[in-house]
Amino acid sequence: MKLLVLGGTVFLGRHVVDEALARGHEVTTYSRGLHGTPHAHAEHVKGDRADVTPLEGRGWDAAIDTSGYDADTVGASAGLDLGHYVFVSSCNVYPDWPDRPVSEDSPTWQEGEGYGQGKAAAERAAHEAMGGRFATVRAGLIVGPHDNVFRLPWWVSRVMRGGRVPAPGRPENELQIIDARDLARFLVDLAEQRTAGAFNGTGPIGQTTWGELLGAAGDEAELVWIPDERLEQAEVQEWVELPMWLPAARYAGTWRIDTTRAQAAGLTTRPVAETVRDVRIWLENGGAEELHDWRSEHRPQPMSAEREAALFRLI
Ligand SMILES: NC(=O)c1ccc[n+]([C@@H]2O[C@H](COP(=O)([O-])OP(=O)(O)OC[C@H]3O[C@@H](n4cnc5c(N)ncnc54)[C@H](OP(=O)(O)O)[C@@H]3O)[C@@H](O)[C@H]2O)c1
Repeated sequence: MKLLVLGGTVFLGRHVVDEALARGHEVTTYSRGLHGTPHAHAEHVKGDRADVTPLEGRGWDAAIDTSGYDADTVGASAGLDLGHYVFVSSCNVYPDWPDRPVSEDSPTWQEGEGYGQGKAAAERAAHEAMGGRFATVRAGLIVGPHDNVFRLPWWVSRVMRGGRVPAPGRPENELQIIDARDLARFLVDLAEQRTAGAFNGTGPIGQTTWGELLGAAGDEAELVWIPDERLEQAEVQEWVELPMWLPAARYAGTWRIDTTRAQAAGLTTRPVAETVRDVRIWLENGGAEELHDWRSEHRPQPMSAEREAALFRLI
């Protein structure tokens, strides 16, 4: 099939391109040429999503949109000559998330400004333009090699550095993650099969635990498990200073995203230890260096060594 990837050069989009090319598809990527490098075996059209005229007058069997954040640009892309549209959305479309468990039937934002609100409006715009030829995948926490957001890579690099590492909560606390390569496979499946609908795109509930995840990162560090309440008392900035951590009691839905529908549609997830191992291999081979062109303000600023030392003095 002829596949248009809106984006395709940084993290998830790069894996989508790899997956589609491996399956023998003809791939076109569309980006401004500011971040990442277009794949050598894909056609690259340079342009901004705000103006899709460079893509007009041509047709694709499907598009996978990894870089849409608002109704106007996503609606404009959905107005192109496309057989099917697969949009990468987020669980942030649910006002209930992460406070409460969500499924695809949970209400989505209908108004307001912000990341989740923009994704929800973008879903509606594309759905309106494409009708029954539209799928949206509401991704959970995406991880894997080339991760420019650098949440799991931060944890892996912190373990690699060794010493006492502040590990949040209890080792048995659960998480759900999705390897970008597994998500990419699912996105290409949906495009190939022209599947329509909304799907939560992450690992199954109970997929892994903090103990398994950090344990798989390496054995250089001593993990010091700090209860949520102690971290809150120490005013550790949730999700940011300790990436991927939200206090379980206050955010009971964080790792309770129902993925039954996506699994029934074919989403499978590789072992978490394999993902963590591959992130480590990527880091050991200088992976983080490739992110030099990514705007650093888009990356969260996790705990500094000074903050970590202060935290250990406090607890
Ligand atoms: N990371 C997570 O945990 C997480 C969780 C839930 C959902 N998501 C969603 O997953 C997706 C992640 O995708 P990714 O960033 O890894 O995808 P990607 O396709 O690998 O990278 C983003 C692409 O978009 C292009 N782009 C950005 N702004 C553009 C513009 N105005 N016009 C044209 N091209 C533009 C970038 O190139 P240029 O900058 O050179 O144009 C780049 O090629 C996002 O939609 C995100 O909201 C992420």
